[in-house]
Amino acid sequence: MEADLRAVMRHFATGVAVATTYSDRADGRHHDAVTVNSLTSVSLDPPLVSLCLRLDSAFLADLLATKKWAVSILPDAARDLARRLAVDRARRAGTVGTLPATAGARTGALVLDSASWIECVLWDSFDLGDHTLVVGEVVAVDDRAHGPALVFLHGRYHTLDDPAQ
Ligand SMILES: Cc1cc2nc3c(=O)[nH]c(=O)nc-3n(C[C@H](O)[C@H](O)[C@H](O)COP(=O)(O)O)c2cc1C
Repeated sequence: MEADLRAVMRHFATGVAVATTYSDRADGRHHDAVTVNSLTSVSLDPPLVSLCLRLDSAFLADLLATKKWAVSILPDAARDLARRLAVDRARRAGTVGTLPATAGARTGALVLDSASWIECVLWDSFDLGDHTLVVGEVVAVDDRAHGPALVFLHGRYHTLDDPAQ
């Protein structure tokens, strides 16, 4: 069934985003960032969005500890960044350290300089099968100019630059 479900869901096109959070340790604040395509708008009043993260994700552990995160919606120009952040923590650390990003004023989580972004605080979380669904209350947004959208479909990245029909 798992293989069948994967095969079917490959036909569902999604956007691509970078989720960010951090952990505060004795030697200072450690930021982290991962590529996600499970971003969903849940509610407008109150404003809620969700992410679905693997139960054993190192990123998820930090997010649940800080209860704060941000998501930046990637344009096609950030395709390479999406690839470099879709790996384990040790391999993405160098990329995280040089992100063109600033700390969000409401959460401290990094928001990308050239993307539309959302800052969240934890509203609720639910362990569901092998993933955790985290629901965040939106505390800040910025809708910035961006180029053609980055789309994930059939296990690959695509550009969506058709004018709206
Ligand atoms: C296009 C794309 C979308 C992804 N979306 C998710 C996601 O929604 N949730 C998730 O847990 N991992 C997702 N991943 C995998 C993460 O980018 C990353 O590899 C993983 O979370 C690392 O786990 P860690 O936090 O334990 O290091 C995605 C990968 C790609 C290429």
